Amino acid sequence: MTPLTTEQIRERAAALGDWFHNIDLNGAPTAPNHFLGDYPNVKWRLFEHAVPQDLAGKTVLDIGCNAGFYSIEMKQRGAERVVGIDFDDRYLDQARFAAEVKGQEIEFRKLSVYDVAELAERFDIVLFMGVLYHLRHPLLALDLIHDHVAGDLLIYQSMQRGSADEYPVQADYDFFQQDHFNDPAYPKLHFIEHEYAGDWTNWWAPNAACSAAMLRSAGFQILEHPEEEVFICRAGERPKPWGAVYPAKPLTNGAGGAK
Ligand SMILES: C[S@@+](CC[C@H](N)C(=O)[O-])C[C@H]1O[C@@H](n2cnc3c(N)ncnc32)[C@H](O)[C@@H]1O
Repeated sequence: MTPLTTEQIRERAAALGDWFHNIDLNGAPTAPNHFLGDYPNVKWRLFEHAVPQDLAGKTVLDIGCNAGFYSIEMKQRGAERVVGIDFDDRYLDQARFAAEVKGQEIEFRKLSVYDVAELAERFDIVLFMGVLYHLRHPLLALDLIHDHVAGDLLIYQSMQRGSADEYPVQADYDFFQQDHFNDPAYPKLHFIEHEYAGDWTNWWAPNAACSAAMLRSAGFQILEHPEEEVFICRAGERPKPWGAVYPAKPLTNGAGGAK
């Protein structure tokens, strides 16, 4: 097949609607006027060193893949299989087009993070970037990721607001001890009742300690914190001995059960 010219790519990209990911498609940038600059390239550059360079033989799941920027990066690092999921058809169509132009075989599927059990597969690397704060039930999503798809590494990013400090959470506090709640660095998840930045899909804004605490609570060991909003984690045991979370959706094939 004759490759598309830059002008043809530009036209096809424009026909796919507004892009959130700015991806350079053979000279045609998909979101050149992004309010965060060359996004997510500018973010990726700040933590890419903390992601394994050689992904040969590895499987990757990109949750909330949008137009596939990170899926493409993982494939470029040699990942054997990359699956990108998102619940928005517009973004999935953009992702399929971007991967086609880049000549990369990536599987994009319409699936919500709440339904990851349907994949019935654990992945060596799970990307959960920029999605948590868009969810009404963020901890449920982390629990489901842990229980059903996280095989080894989790690469997490969230918009964060408030203190960027770490906080040494004690194992327990006396009932009358309250000062820690007023410490800005104590894990806090700010609830957004209406809109934030004109976007009603922003539901929560954790501070940095809250991202870390939620990850630990869901059973992820934090290995690295290479950038303020990014945590590289390893799936492990949950600190508290509860069983499978949200078991209400029985699996028809019996696979992908709780770790
Ligand atoms: C801010 S974008 C982040 C995109 C990309 N992961 C990144 O870091 O650049 C959030 C993405 O999450 C997707 N998303 C939101 N809620 C979701 C859900 N419940 N399941 C799957 N994807 C979801 C949105 O459609 C959107 O593509």
